[in-house]
Amino acid sequence: MRHPIGVFDSGYGGLTVLKSMVGRLPQYDYVYLGDNARAPYGNRSFETVYHYTLQCVRWLFDQGCPLVILACNTASAKALRTIQQNDLPNIAPSNRVLGVIRPTTEVIGNFTRSGKVGVLATRGTVLSGSYPIEIEKFFPDLAVYQQACPLWVPLIENNEHDKPGADYFVKEYLDQLQEQAPGIDTVLLACTHYPLLKDKISRFLPQGATLISQGEIVADSLADYLGRHPEMETRCSKGGRLSFYTTDSPEDFDNHASIFYGENLRSEHVGLV
Ligand code: DGL
Repeated sequence: MRHPIGVFDSGYGGLTVLKSMVGRLPQYDYVYLGDNARAPYGNRSFETVYHYTLQCVRWLFDQGCPLVILACNTASAKALRTIQQNDLPNIAPSNRVLGVIRPTTEVIGNFTRSGKVGVLATRGTVLSGSYPIEIEKFFPDLAVYQQACPLWVPLIENNEHDKPGADYFVKEYLDQLQEQAPGIDTVLLACTHYPLLKDKISRFLPQGATLISQGEIVADSLADYLGRHPEMETRCSKGGRLSFYTTDSPEDFDNHASIFYGENLRSEHVGLV
């Protein structure tokens, strides 16, 4: 039986992370689940995001995944800790669920010279306070400014992000971030959908500012984790096989996923909703 690494997102955004993982660690099998039928998660309550995420994690465990990566900041912010502390010991004590926030906060301070970091994220991630709380642990001297960008995921999921109309909403949120403090020199895309807006975002950032997306960071962190946990590494099956599942229409998923993953995919439907 296969024991792939499970990768989960509310929709398509986690594909940007999966791409980096497969590039960095091509030897493993991966299974991707996008909860497209219930995306976006960004404005949903803690209870709802937790409930949906747990359901998807359980499904990935049922597919044989010993390790699941929540490639979604919103789910990492709102559901990860409860799943790790309350659910995992009961449902699958030897399995592991990891998120994308911790790996990012461990390194973010290495990019800034001004000591001022901007975090662009969904409203849910911002309100959870996860980024300032976690960054404080590793880089207590950093000043962290958060900006919720609630319209970006809908723009991206509806394929409107490349159109000129998207410029207004990109500029709007970046202006709001920069109004919070002058001198922010490092801006983190703390939502796995946002790399699709990277070019537009770069155009509206002050010159010299560094824009960080999470794919490479999370892939490096996974490589490090597997190196430090041979008991998990040996459980993950190797073969470089990829499979994709969506809770919504596979046709829609396949038509849209390539802009996130950079190549054509074929998905299957999973009926969780
Ligand atoms: N891609 C998800 C994240 O990283 C959020 C998208 C959504 O709002 O569902 O936060």
